[in-house]
Amino acid sequence: MTMEIEGFSLKYLQIWDKRSTVRHLERFQPTARDVASQIVPDNALPFSHSINDLNLSGEAVRWYAAMQCYRFMEEIALVESDVIVRLCNLLANRQHDWHLPFAARQVAMTIATDESYHALVAREFMENVQHLTGFKPNGLPGRCAVDVALEGVQSHVTESLWNDFQIIALCLAENAIVDELVGLARDTEPDNAFHCVLSEHMLDEGRHRKFFQQLLKFQWAALDPTARDSIARVLPTYLDLWLARDEPMEDALEDLEAVGASSSNLLVLKRKFLSARSGKHDNPMWQNVRNALRVAGMDTNAYLQQQLIIGGWLIPSNGQSQAKP
Ligand SMILES: [Fe+2]
Ligand SMILES: [Fe+2]
Repeated sequence: MTMEIEGFSLKYLQIWDKRSTVRHLERFQPTARDVASQIVPDNALPFSHSINDLNLSGEAVRWYAAMQCYRFMEEIALVESDVIVRLCNLLANRQHDWHLPFAARQVAMTIATDESYHALVAREFMENVQHLTGFKPNGLPGRCAVDVALEGVQSHVTESLWNDFQIIALCLAENAIVDELVGLARDTEPDNAFHCVLSEHMLDEGRHRKFFQQLLKFQWAALDPTARDSIARVLPTYLDLWLARDEPMEDALEDLEAVGASSSNLLVLKRKFLSARSGKHDNPMWQNVRNALRVAGMDTNAYLQQQLIIGGWLIPSNGQSQAKP
């Protein structure tokens, strides 16, 4: 298994030299023409199906779309800097209970470099859109969801396993994020400015995802059964804090309120959203995470399966939910 990740990493380093955006791509810069139309199109906005029912002016919808662009870019800038870069450095520079080859440590350093650059691009894009539209952000959270979720479970994980848990969280985040970018890029036209920035970001993220799938498989296989069980016990709570959050919906509702949607309309919207909300097991980000677990061979671990069923993330094969109330 060590030779497998070493061989993969050596090839990765060659490809990074030839293809990384930080070294080879002149980045997209939006113009006044790009931002004159709606920066994020209706179909990629929260509450996309109900925006027409709110009787907002075209300018109000344009403002709402700019706010969602800022929220998304802020989340990108924070998750890259506060989580991915920090944990790639941890992966590259610290000793682990499993032997990580030098080439894999160097890959982690290249990813930290890519992600710092992605954060810079996201911040620059926000600044340019703000300058060109005159729309100021409507209050941004200042912390990303992964960071909050990690803090929320830290006291449940022993100190000796905390680095391992965080590296698993890193692998899962890097699998989920790329699929989210792909989904948003699919919902936007190729000449849209938001699409252009997402597409450039994706050029690096597909490569990252492959590395983190390899790493997750390698790390999980290297952990002893007690360590695996301890991590499996905390994973569902971590997923709750990371993926099953209402904050994105509440932030979008706040933006709609700020732009003049009536409280009665917003209440209807919120009720409609909550009643249509599917279970955790249908969460699109969870589907990406689940795929990463499958590729890494973690999905066959009976104890992890049981914990995910209890946490409501998996449906047992007999179809009866054992989720906690
Ligand atoms: Fe990135
Ligand atoms: Fe990445």
